Amino acid sequence: MTDKIVIVGAGHAAGQVVATLRLKKFDGSICLIGEEAYLPYQRPPLSKKYLAGELPAERLHFKAPNFYDEPNIEVHLNTTIDRIDRAAKVVQSNDGLEFPYDKLVISLGAHARHIDLPGIELAGVHYLRTIPDVDRIREEFGPSRRLVIVGAGYIGLEVAAVAAQLGLDVTVVEMLDRVMSRVVSAQVSEFYQHEHADHGVKLLLSTGIKGFAGDGHVAAVDLADGTKIPADLVVIGIGVVPNTRLAADAGLEVSNGILVNDRCNTSDPDIYAVGDCTCHPNDLLGRQIRLESVHNALEQAKTAAANICGEDQRYAQVPWFWSDQYDLKLQIAGLSQDYDQTIIRGDPAERSFSCLYLNDGKLIAVDAINRPKDFMQSKKLIADHAVIDPALLADSDLELKDMV
Ligand code: NAI
Repeated sequence: MTDKIVIVGAGHAAGQVVATLRLKKFDGSICLIGEEAYLPYQRPPLSKKYLAGELPAERLHFKAPNFYDEPNIEVHLNTTIDRIDRAAKVVQSNDGLEFPYDKLVISLGAHARHIDLPGIELAGVHYLRTIPDVDRIREEFGPSRRLVIVGAGYIGLEVAAVAAQLGLDVTVVEMLDRVMSRVVSAQVSEFYQHEHADHGVKLLLSTGIKGFAGDGHVAAVDLADGTKIPADLVVIGIGVVPNTRLAADAGLEVSNGILVNDRCNTSDPDIYAVGDCTCHPNDLLGRQIRLESVHNALEQAKTAAANICGEDQRYAQVPWFWSDQYDLKLQIAGLSQDYDQTIIRGDPAERSFSCLYLNDGKLIAVDAINRPKDFMQSKKLIADHAVIDPALLADSDLELKDMV
């Protein structure tokens, strides 16, 4: 019998766990505990509209604050849990509070990967993961300010797009030879490189950095080749690291994330884990994966909550992601890593095209740039492991859904 559910970590996934428990009329108590000062909020706008100043902080809420004003919901913000005692079924905060549970949900997410280089402690050098991070960056934004971004992934390029549009002087330093190489093909990288260059962003590819220079506040970024790039502020976006320490210390199985099964159960039947901090089975690939994705966080949260309520639900989804840069909406369905062939539909010169990824003839992923129909229609084809004649796929007069 589940009377008391404790949720550790109060991000997007945690908010969805509460929402699904409410939807399913769970009548035990729900205790939501988070280290940040905020109720669950949406992170995707942080590097987009919130950074641009186009969205007030209140609009970031996952659910309005009064959503949690229920007699059976307790919320503890500014509270850091530093131990799970599995034998006693209790979690403990670093200031001595104890929260007993029948079922525990770990939704601790991930933190920005840190860079250990001289000058990292200088004022004006920022990571971007939370509302306060963005508020600090915004304070330093202004026309003609020299912004150096380290990393040309999602964070780096979304920040570059916002900053360029606000009139900052933007340089992006990337250690690999193309942008977003973790997620997209060379053709898509090249397209985005041109877009950023057209907006005045300087891209330094295959470039390492040695550190940050300045007297109290950053004034330059030192490149590995000895060049110094003047900087009024720096934003670092070099990936994230899943928050697994709490789970590992408690003896749960951890390997590139907290290991869960397709019911979002960890190696302890009374403990679930959801979102960026998990490594979970993916039917499409036939292996365990970790995803940094809002869709995954929400769907795992729904699955965990349903199973806690006594249903038997499996998590089996085609992953998807998106990124907004300038007026370009990049929507990604599936995971492209294992591709052996790519097909372009549409015309990059018209700023509306898709890159389709095949493995052994099967469609495994699609990057759709300003082509929402391709994105929507490809999800089912990817789930079905569709094999379609490449000449048909390339014919952009035909809709993908009509090809099977
Ligand atoms: P990322 O993994 O997307 O990109 C990191 C980039 O930094 C890579 O291109 C990598 O080669 C580069 N890099 C790594 N070490 C470096 C170094 N020492 N010097 C220069 N470049 C280096 O990670 P990113 O952009 O930090 O985003 C983190 C996470 O934030 C994403 O994985 C995602 O969870 C979330 N996010 C998602 C968005 C979306 O879906 N649209 C938007 C923004 C963030």
